[in-house]
Amino acid sequence: MRMEGARIAVLGGRTGLLGQALTTAFGRAGALPFPLSRRDCDVLDPLSVEQWLDKNDPDLLVNATGYTQVDLAEDEPDQAFALNGSVPPLLATLAARRAIPFVHYSTDFVFNGRKRTPYTEYDEPNAVSVYGISKADGERGLLKLGYERTLIIRISWLFGPGRTNFVKKILGLADVHRKLTVVNDQVGSPSYTPDIAENTVKLLEKDATGLFHLANSGETSWHGLANTAVNLAGKDCTVSPVPTTAYPTKAFRPSYSVLDLAKFTRTTGITPRRWEDALRQYVLGDLGLGA
Ligand SMILES: NC(=O)c1ccc[n+]([C@@H]2O[C@H](COP(=O)([O-])OP(=O)(O)OC[C@H]3O[C@@H](n4cnc5c(N)ncnc54)[C@H](OP(=O)(O)O)[C@@H]3O)[C@@H](O)[C@H]2O)c1
Repeated sequence: MRMEGARIAVLGGRTGLLGQALTTAFGRAGALPFPLSRRDCDVLDPLSVEQWLDKNDPDLLVNATGYTQVDLAEDEPDQAFALNGSVPPLLATLAARRAIPFVHYSTDFVFNGRKRTPYTEYDEPNAVSVYGISKADGERGLLKLGYERTLIIRISWLFGPGRTNFVKKILGLADVHRKLTVVNDQVGSPSYTPDIAENTVKLLEKDATGLFHLANSGETSWHGLANTAVNLAGKDCTVSPVPTTAYPTKAFRPSYSVLDLAKFTRTTGITPRRWEDALRQYVLGDLGLGA
């Protein structure tokens, strides 16, 4: 689709970590983004979304909302399933009625993590947490609905400006602790939200539909990500690796969830930059840290 002048509704675009980056990227591409908060329209109330769509007549509907608290989801499965499972097909139905494309984001946590090579779009989801199962439910609902102008993008390990995230939390802790321990037996693909947003634009410009994996290139553990961020920021803090068993959490997390980006690269001709380069931009540029 042509971005220039396109009216784009970004659900979650006002306060969401990814939604804010999408709003910026759509604006940069010449589109007219409408960043929406739950006060503009509550996605759990499809009528409020429909009314907004009727009034504003967008050319594209993007869902960057979600129930994203992985551990809390174990205690609040109904809320997680409502937002992550039921909402996506309802939103796609509204997009289908208006014959406009629909973009939705899913997660590497739909996989159980037993593989040791990057997960492709052909690997079967087999989630091991309420969050992951609810996100897989949303994907299944969209596939069952079968609206052909749907783009589902699985992403992973987000960091970026605008909202708290793992990297920001670690840098805050490094300000007040000389030593930190972070798990090193969970491996994934860190993703800088502005890069995910810009590469979403590239997929839309190619009229891509169906399922895609998207992240920054490369892989690391949470320890690798934390240690690199702390070093880039020049903090006086040692980050040591520990096993997951040192930090028991309510939700089980996959030990390996690296996403294979080959389909994205085949479709757009783009290889996303490595996570270390994106992290440098976040820590030194966005956060203004570093020696
Ligand atoms: N964060 C990650 O590492 C990660 C990894 C893989 C996939 N994803 C997926 O990427 C997507 C975006 O994640 P994110 O980290 O950017 O999420 P986020 O920062 O938690 O933002 C979620 C957004 O959804 C909004 N929202 C929640 N309930 C709503 C409702 N009923 N009506 C309208 N808006 C509502 C929130 O508004 P409030 O601010 O008002 O709550 C917020 O703007 C999600 O689908 C998530 O599953 C995220």
